[in-house]
Amino acid sequence: MSLFKRNRPSPLLNVLETDMHCHLLPNVDDGSRDITETVSCLQTMAAAGFKKVYFTPHFQANYPNEEEDIHNRFQQLKKELAKYDGLPEIAGISGEYRFDAQYIRRPGIDNVTPLPGKLLLCEFSLHSQSKIPHDLFKGFQELQYTIVLAHPERYPYLGPFSPEIKKMKEFGILFQVNILSLNGFYGQVAMDKGYTYIENNWVEYLGTDMHNTNYAQELLRTLENRTFKKMLEKHTFRNNTL
Ligand SMILES: [Fe+2]
Repeated sequence: MSLFKRNRPSPLLNVLETDMHCHLLPNVDDGSRDITETVSCLQTMAAAGFKKVYFTPHFQANYPNEEEDIHNRFQQLKKELAKYDGLPEIAGISGEYRFDAQYIRRPGIDNVTPLPGKLLLCEFSLHSQSKIPHDLFKGFQELQYTIVLAHPERYPYLGPFSPEIKKMKEFGILFQVNILSLNGFYGQVAMDKGYTYIENNWVEYLGTDMHNTNYAQELLRTLENRTFKKMLEKHTFRNNTL
């Protein structure tokens, strides 16, 4: 039985329209394991209100994905998903690029697949980051990309009012907060930071960062969270421009 059949959620996330961060291309990273799990997650996302979804597999040392292989897998999956009713539109493939020392060493920094508008979703290490990669930001900006930092609330070494965060905002880096952070999925500290960034109007996008059916269940619980619902009424995001 799909997750929402017994208790259909209100599709609150229709105000966002588009999810631009998820790991539902099966078996390429730590996301969904097979198409059954992908379909189940997508059904839940549709029930939550999403109309369009972009897939963003990890590109980092632990998951040495190649752009061409990812594109081929995506096209194959898209054909398979067309057989299912009631899913969001599978709008495109991009990536979540880990900006670390390893990335900086790779040749041709722009061997990437951005989201529409040349938006590039990047992340840092969740454990430590020797330095914020301003050279890399600058390199991409010179190539007319706009960097979106995934889940700034999840990095324990970055506080909401740290000089690094302020510098990134001054530099034009956009922020994407994880929806599940706002229900405490990653702990109290990440939740508090997520709301603080939003209250400061520093957050341009919300994303599910959907990996598997546990995340899908948490997404449904988040829709019942009063603080989250109030925040959604009060703030607007740019997801619907994608
Ligand atoms: Fe992610």
